[in-house]
Amino acid sequence: MDAQPVTKTAEQMAGQARVISVSEFFEKNRHLLGYDNKIKALLIIVKEAVDNALDATEEARILPEIYLKVEELEKEKYKIIIRDNGPGIVKQQIPKIFGTLLYGSKFHRLKQSRGQQGLGISCAVLYSQLTTGEPAEILSSTGGGKVHRYKLKIDVKQNEPEIIEESETASKTDWHGVQITFICEGIYREHKQSILEYVKQTAIANPYCSITFDSPSGKMVFKRAVDHLPKEPKEIQPHIEGVEVGILSRMLGDTSARTLASFFTTEFTRIGKTTAADICQKAGLDPKTAPRRVTDQDIVKIVKAVKEVKLTKPPTDVLSPLGDELVEKGLKKELSPEFVTSITRPPAVYRGWPFQVEVGLAFGGGITEPAIMRFANRVPLLYQQGDCAITKSITGVDWRRYGIESDKLPTGPISIFVHICSVWVPFTSESKEAVASYPVILKETKLGLQEAARKLSLYLSGKRRAEYQAERMRIFDRYAGETAKALEELTGEKAEGIVKMIRKIVSHAKPEDFGEEPPEQAKGAKKPAEDKHDEN
Ligand SMILES: Nc1ncnc2c1ncn2[C@@H]1O[C@H](COP(=O)(O)OP(=O)(O)OP(=O)(O)O)[C@@H](O)[C@H]1O
Ligand SMILES: [Mg+2]
Repeated sequence: MDAQPVTKTAEQMAGQARVISVSEFFEKNRHLLGYDNKIKALLIIVKEAVDNALDATEEARILPEIYLKVEELEKEKYKIIIRDNGPGIVKQQIPKIFGTLLYGSKFHRLKQSRGQQGLGISCAVLYSQLTTGEPAEILSSTGGGKVHRYKLKIDVKQNEPEIIEESETASKTDWHGVQITFICEGIYREHKQSILEYVKQTAIANPYCSITFDSPSGKMVFKRAVDHLPKEPKEIQPHIEGVEVGILSRMLGDTSARTLASFFTTEFTRIGKTTAADICQKAGLDPKTAPRRVTDQDIVKIVKAVKEVKLTKPPTDVLSPLGDELVEKGLKKELSPEFVTSITRPPAVYRGWPFQVEVGLAFGGGITEPAIMRFANRVPLLYQQGDCAITKSITGVDWRRYGIESDKLPTGPISIFVHICSVWVPFTSESKEAVASYPVILKETKLGLQEAARKLSLYLSGKRRAEYQAERMRIFDRYAGETAKALEELTGEKAEGIVKMIRKIVSHAKPEDFGEEPPEQAKGAKKPAEDKHDEN
């Protein structure tokens, strides 16, 4: 074989390699964050800002009041304004938060919140400047009558803010919070995966929040249905169960603990002195070793030892599910269903991290078609339904055995609400659109759906029995008069009394008493006691 002529030397190729800033990376790959079409882009910008506003207000224990405006400036060019009543952002932090990708307060902690990556809002700034060249405008007040105003862009090469304008004004009101204005390319629609649907579902899963949406098709107000916030989630330390060699090595380098044993007890959740000593002993290490003296081989031994030690599960009271009251009030206020029920599963653990599932089912009334509403840490998930653990769990339930018509997914007028909350939600990608299918998450979700379905099936069978009785009464009423007259002639008893007697018998009778089958749906539904989650 002829040798190929060398056209480029290693030295020449080395000259082409250089560091890539994270902003450059996402500028090229904005689809990874969901910015792959103009309709979705508008939704993502709104979602990132509203999610942050809800995180900030809740963390400051303030009932959220959010103002959102989407205005068409020209064809496919929009102005988006989001204002909250949160604690605001201190002046020095504003440029970094909006002008640096991967900068945030939530990534390094384990606490239930909507944000976790430190990417959301700066990527919205990046998308806007990329599509219209316009900077974002940020107003922030931490109270006390001062408002800081910035107009900024991102210096993509450096992944740093580029401040275009900066000023401070006295506020005439006592407003505190953040207001952001974006000017970006996009298309506004009001379909199933739209801003409007996101706002509606946000109002359902966050019924303690008020949202005013000034949309291109008019102003809409989503009023709060309750005046109290759910309990505050707690921050936890990592659980050693899921720890890997690289993470352990970094943690050992960063810790202020003086010994290996105290490193285990202070940096991890639920590790007492005995367990720490046990890990050291199984790894063949002295508990008094200074963390910085632990070698790479020692770390591998520790990871192995952890697998052999009996560990206490992480605490599970750190999560903040919505609870029955909020799930049901949220569903009622936005959907006006005929029946609503909910279930909150006990907390469980995936990869050492606690999570919890709650399910709401709303049926009939204002609901005319089936719908699935998926939420992660109270955020509606509108895309990638098919890839999501929640959808997989829904299709895994045999709905017909609960008297609910279905073709894999229910087909009747039913809205299925599933909320997964966790200190770290395992999303399938950076765009945070679908929950990863860890077997324990699938199982918990299915159990929640089955429990809720059982409650709905009881209601449906009761309702069908009542409908059946009413139908029989109508038929008897039609003939009771004539029958009573004939009986009066035969027996001499007064017709009125006979009619009353017939009504009494009919109203207490079951279909079986007439040798008839019970109504279809009531027959299909299993009694709660008979169902032992045997679908798993
Ligand atoms: N409206 C706001 N009020 C107060 N602080 C805010 C507000 N918006 C953003 N922040 C702060 O800015 C940080 C960065 O926000 P950003 O949305 O980029 O990341 P995140 O919310 O931490 O994670 P994610 O990328 O998953 O959304 C947040 O962690 C928070 O500390
Ligand atoms: Mg965020």
